[in-house]
Amino acid sequence: MNTPSNLINRLSPSATLAMSQRSAELKAQGVDVINLSVGEPDFNTPEHIKEAAKQAIDDNFSRYSPVPGYPALRQAIVDKLKNENNLEYTINQISCSNGAKQSVCNVVMALVNEGDEVIVPAPYWVSYPEMVLMANGTPVIVAAGIEQDFKITAEQLEATITDKTKALILCSPSNPTGSVYSREELAALAAVLERHPQVYVIADEIYEHINYVGRHESIAQFAGVRDRVVIINGVSKAYAMTGWRIGFIAGPEWIVKACNKLQGQYTSGPWYHRRLPKPPTVALRSLWRRCARPSSVAATSSYSSAATSPASRSTSLREPSTSSPSAAPTSARSSATRSSRPLLTSPCISSRRAT
Ligand SMILES: Cc1ncc(COP(=O)(O)O)c(C=O)c1O
Repeated sequence: MNTPSNLINRLSPSATLAMSQRSAELKAQGVDVINLSVGEPDFNTPEHIKEAAKQAIDDNFSRYSPVPGYPALRQAIVDKLKNENNLEYTINQISCSNGAKQSVCNVVMALVNEGDEVIVPAPYWVSYPEMVLMANGTPVIVAAGIEQDFKITAEQLEATITDKTKALILCSPSNPTGSVYSREELAALAAVLERHPQVYVIADEIYEHINYVGRHESIAQFAGVRDRVVIINGVSKAYAMTGWRIGFIAGPEWIVKACNKLQGQYTSGPWYHRRLPKPPTVALRSLWRRCARPSSVAATSSYSSAATSPASRSTSLREPSTSSPSAAPTSARSSATRSSRPLLTSPCISSRRAT
């Protein structure tokens, strides 16, 4: 019998990819379609990054890499987290993967047992519940509607946690809504989580630099939950490197080790060379440095202003707010600020140039 495994039968096909394909079909028929499905920026990978990558290829960085990524790359990520997010990590708390999607999936697989519940605030990125199902867990969807700016409240979180709850997947800035949790909102969620020490947080921050609302804040900054937070990030969105497949996690060492164990049997590490022709991988290290702080934003002290974020450089479809909403509590944000951000669209810049 040609029957796939129960795992495959349990999974739904990717709705995002189906929408994307449909949009391509309509475009081929001459229909003017704006594709808001896959999170594809409307600019290209910056030239200096491409040059660094070409150099790395010429330098023969083309062999198997260490499973969590080469130490110099992980050190560059440690530096990024310190410089941009004021968060302290060691390189043993970092693991690089073939895209942030794999990073999320690794963490879910590393944490979730059969029957465990994972809280997923809705609207959500469609892959989250499927990943939980892959791990034999139960996604618990918590609706956060427009009236609450698509963000769950501390009260909702408290009411949803049971003794089976293993994790919360928190995406901020959010795909698909673009909503951004403020520091105060994250503090309130962290206070709830402090009372439930069995609950981990998978903090998906892949849209860190595509932020139309206010300063990016990470729930990892709160000491009471810090040792239960795994940050997900990467270069796909902010630097238009979706095809390069470079993502990472930063979190407790035991979770990172578990992810490395899984990844070691599955895909191995992302692109890198294990024998260095010259001292620590100048090429990829500088590649990451440049990714982490492109020249146009290097002079700013934070990413609170959408006008300085890499994504704002080329967007024509959506105008970032020019005010400084970071100073205002989210609940007090003006309707003008809200209306500058289309609802229920991806925070990434989908456009006619999207591929
Ligand atoms: C919320 C969210 N997390 C993670 C990812 C995966 O990013 P990557 O392309 O680095 O795998 C995406 C991609 O669309 C996303 O929307």
